[in-house]
Amino acid sequence: MSDAVFQQCINPACAATYDVLQTLPKCPACGDLLDVKYDWNRLPTPKRLSDFDALALPKGGLGRVSGVWRFGALLPFAPEAKRVSIGEGHTQLRCSPRVAAYAGMNPERLWLQYEGLNPSGSFKDNGMAGAFTHANMVGAKVAACASTGNTSASLAAFAAASGLMKAIIFVGSGKIAYGKLSQALDYGALTLQVLGDFDDAMARVQEVCAAKNIYLVNSVNPFRLEGQKTIMYRVLEGFGWEVPDWIVVPGGNLGNSSAFGKAFMELKELGLISRVPRIAIINAEGAPTFSKLVNGGSLAWNGGRTDNAAISAYYAGLDTRKEKAHTMASAIEINRPVNLKKCLRCIDFMRGVVRTVSDQEMLDAKAQVGLEGLGCEPASAASVAGARKLVAEGVIGRDERIACILTGHQLKDPIATVGYHSMPEKELNEKFGEYGIRTTAHRNMPVQVKNDLDDILGAIERAGTR
Ligand code: F0G
Repeated sequence: MSDAVFQQCINPACAATYDVLQTLPKCPACGDLLDVKYDWNRLPTPKRLSDFDALALPKGGLGRVSGVWRFGALLPFAPEAKRVSIGEGHTQLRCSPRVAAYAGMNPERLWLQYEGLNPSGSFKDNGMAGAFTHANMVGAKVAACASTGNTSASLAAFAAASGLMKAIIFVGSGKIAYGKLSQALDYGALTLQVLGDFDDAMARVQEVCAAKNIYLVNSVNPFRLEGQKTIMYRVLEGFGWEVPDWIVVPGGNLGNSSAFGKAFMELKELGLISRVPRIAIINAEGAPTFSKLVNGGSLAWNGGRTDNAAISAYYAGLDTRKEKAHTMASAIEINRPVNLKKCLRCIDFMRGVVRTVSDQEMLDAKAQVGLEGLGCEPASAASVAGARKLVAEGVIGRDERIACILTGHQLKDPIATVGYHSMPEKELNEKFGEYGIRTTAHRNMPVQVKNDLDDILGAIERAGTR
């Protein structure tokens, strides 16, 4: 690979650079996160985004079936022969008037970017195509991650489908949604259930990877984020290459939002867009680190001179109070987001806002998404619940054009969906009361009928035209 591609520390005071073929979970010089960087002047770049139209249809050949690698010119870190794909990124941007109405917006203004259509059912496959490709470039034989479930499902799927390496996954005990756990088991990954939560599993996997020279595919890995930039390219493509006003995305480890920020920084630098959308990052109320630090503590990127002491003090406070993340949206039950600093850079560049939503708000929003015939997991609906909140606050205008990212498929966590729609109130309060779920205003209760024609016809009659 030419030195037009390299890795660089995000801290401007350090800015150390490293070869693209080094495997570094963080900057060896200062410990900060790394970026993949391109000297665009020395690389072939598209003249306009519509150049990608020609690559839209899968006609065979890796570059054409991957929704990530067809944008390879915007993530040119890998030679074509090393690129790995399991057919990720064939997702869709759908106009959703019903959800727009729910969020208080005018019809045709709210769009859902449905990443549940990826082969392993979540947006993670975009990033895994990037990380796995880099792992392949450096000749890794074992890859690992800590996960709330989707990263592990994606890693396990890539390992099994490509046959290139073995997968080890670290999950916190008890909290992983069944759909996700079932994927890792089915795809043959070595599955370690750490007695602790995601933040504990994340700390342990980093130690293990360092000790055993195992390739880490969590989103501290900058090549993961390269793949996730393509979600934004597909959003732009869905809008006919027009830039929307807002991107709304759930925030957990903050990898996705950081990747989106980088995507837009580069498109702007390349002159491929003339304006940048704003971004809204939505935490769960039960895992509010980013929101607390940004809104409560005024933490900011500050040209790279981030107040590290404020972050450490916040984490020390969590430890002293023995405070753990706690939300039904298990995918984003994360209190120590590894991409926190990159995400500060993102909200600085995209004039971002950060909000929290309750589990109740997420489940109610999720039921609205379901009525679009899409279906997402609870964490994904944070984007819709967050949009609704921001419209009510007047931050997002009713007539602005927004894309809410639906990060994971509904079938990842069927217990949440079936519980919401079908549990009698008392049972629901017993099962989900700890998450503050009290009502199911948008439920679609199954109707019990006798095994009898008249009874069934009567039930249909009473239900009206449904
Ligand atoms: N939505 C879903 C469905 C997720 O699985 C995740 C993260 C997020 C949102 C948050 O994205 O971390 O980039 O801010 N899941 C990770 C995992 C942590 O292990 O699967 P983020």
